[in-house]
This record gives sequence, structure tokens and C-alpha cells, in this order.
Amino acid sequence: MLENPLVLGIETTCDETGVALARGFDLLHDQVASSMEEHARFGGIVPEVASRAHLEAFPAAFEATIAATGVRLEDVDAIAVAAGPGLVGSLAVGLSAAKALALALGKPLYGVNHVVAHALVDQLVHGQFPAPVLALVASGGHSSLLVIDGPQVEELGHTLDDAAGEAFDKVGRLLGLPYPAGPHIDRLAQTGNARAIDFPRALTRRQDLEKHRYDFSFSGLKTAGARWIEAAQDRGEEVPLADFAASFSGAVADVLTAKTVAAAKALGLKTVVIGGGFSANTQLRELAADRFAAAGLEARIPPIRLCTDNGAMIAAAGVQAIKGGLKPSALNVAADSSMPMEQLVA
Ligand code: KG4
Ligand code: ZN
Repeated sequence: MLENPLVLGIETTCDETGVALARGFDLLHDQVASSMEEHARFGGIVPEVASRAHLEAFPAAFEATIAATGVRLEDVDAIAVAAGPGLVGSLAVGLSAAKALALALGKPLYGVNHVVAHALVDQLVHGQFPAPVLALVASGGHSSLLVIDGPQVEELGHTLDDAAGEAFDKVGRLLGLPYPAGPHIDRLAQTGNARAIDFPRALTRRQDLEKHRYDFSFSGLKTAGARWIEAAQDRGEEVPLADFAASFSGAVADVLTAKTVAAAKALGLKTVVIGGGFSANTQLRELAADRFAAAGLEARIPPIRLCTDNGAMIAAAGVQAIKGGLKPSALNVAADSSMPMEQLVA
């Protein structure tokens, strides 16, 4: 087992093309190109456009990473690539590149789990996790509570319908905000009153807790938000954007952090990490820091640039897999849009 493997990470799950190099949990370089602007005019990701954008962006991102680090390709110990969950056509681009490199260089290939990687990336900033840790991963497609113990992952719960970021993006669309709406709602919320509108907190009542203690649901909140906007518009009133955004964000941040603290207490876990694009959210970060500290938990909150999709997280997952002694993937490993969380490597 290599102590500090040199790993190339490739991420093409959605609309970011990411390439990075890490030596152990030291990040050497992280290069990200985004095709977001090409999707914005459609109000959402267009899979075919995303796949083509990865094809176009990959060579430059790869070359920039090699040039910035001065690393010789033959010195790389392994190639890590996101194998899922994600858009199959997009995943296929990164997987093809990774397979070609692994084959040409004679290096092992690790097809890793993108959602778990969102939590593992924190180790590039705050050092190796003590084992085990509790992870809250909230992104555009997922909201999950995971227990991560080295390379072993257990999923405690997940969203039963919409992900946190998805609810933001859908409500934002009704407010006329550009896609993705998450960062815009976040900005608007800065000057709003989070208590102005009492939005529902799903799956937090006693009867829900028996079956869904660690699960989430944001589609009811999304509908409540949509109704609220419609009602205001019917009355001919303007939606108070800042108060709406702060109250909506507050409801999501409240449920995510409350369930995370409850899980940490119930399982006796002392370290909690958050990750995923939605963890860039200001209210979530502030409430998480407050509540984790109040509960005596060590909070690991990665910097915002590492919250949204990037290659560094995939390199970190590859390092984790190698350190944990996991076997590499077969060269014919397939993209898996619904890759199970328990599977760090496909
Ligand atoms: O992890 P990510 O980059 O891609 C997926 O794997 O889904 O997450 C993207 C999601 C989008 O829904 C976006 O609106 C949301 O993260 N997001 C935010 C913020 N920044 C990104 N949501 C709320 N507040 C933010 N500051
Ligand atoms: Zn992601």
C-alpha cells in the first residue's frame, strides 16, 4: 500500500470538467472548466451539450494540470475518475479519457463515487479524517447522510424526492433567477429575514422520525415556495425576494443541520464534514458551524471552491481508495448514474 500516492483525478459528472493532481492528501493542482453558461439559457443542464463540452474542455484542463505541476505522467501512481452518480453521457467522457491514460501508462484505474468524493475532498484542506466521520453531502442531485470509515461508506439516509440544490434551482426559476439559482438565492438571502415566512420542515415530526430519522424531503418545501410565490402574484404583490430567500434557505439549512447533529449524537460520532455544491450555501455553513460547535462536534467545512464539482475531490477519493487497500476498477468499468453510496470504487 502506498502511503502518499500521486493520483490524477478526473471529474465529468455534470457541467464541470475537472482535472487535478494530489500526492496523498496534498493537492498539487486543481483545474476546473464549466459549461454552465451554455446551459443557463435553457434553464437547466442539457445532457448532450454537457457531454460535448467535456470533450472540448478536457484536453486543455489536463494539459494545464500537467504543466502547472511539472509532474511526469509516468510518475503518476493511479488514475481516478468519477464513475457515478451523474449524467451517463458526461461520465462516459471522463471515463474514456481515464481508461485511455490508464492503459497507455500501465497505471491502475479507480472509478470512484462522486457523491462520497464531495465529502472526502475535505481531507485535502483539513488533513486525513479520523475514522469514522459523519458526512452530510448536499448537491444539485443528492442530499445524503453518510458514515465514512476509511474506504468504507454506509448511507444512513437520503432525500426521498428532491435534493436541496434541486429545490433551490426549481424555486429560483419561478422567481425568474438564472440557472443555477442556488448562488442567487444565497446572495438575496443575505439581507433577508429568515423568520419572515414559516416554511415546512419535512420529516422532522415524531411520527416521521421512526421510519425516516435520517432521510430528507424537499419537494413539499418546493411546492410550498411555489404556492407562496403564486399567491403573492395573484394579489398583485411583488415577492419580497430577500425575505423569501432567507426563509427558504433557513428551512433547508435547519433540517439538514438538525438531522446531522441528531445522527452524530445517536452514533457517537465526533467529527462531522459537509460537502457538495449546496454546502457553498452561506446559511447552511453558518448554522452548521454554530450547531456542530454547540453539540461539541469537530466541524469540517471545506472552502467554497472545493464544494462544487471539481477534479480535486476525485483525486482525494482515489487516494482514499488506495490508502484503504481497495482494488482498482476493471478497464471496462461502466458509468453508473445511480452508483450506490456504499461503493467508493466501482
Ligand atoms: O455538487 P454540485 O456542483 O453538482 C452536483 O453534483 O449536483 O452542486 C450544484 C448545486 C446546484 O443545485 C446549485 O444551485 C447549488 O449546488 N449551489 C448552491 C450554492 N452554490 C451552488 N445552493 C445554494 N447556495 C449556494 N451558495
Ligand atoms: Zn457534485
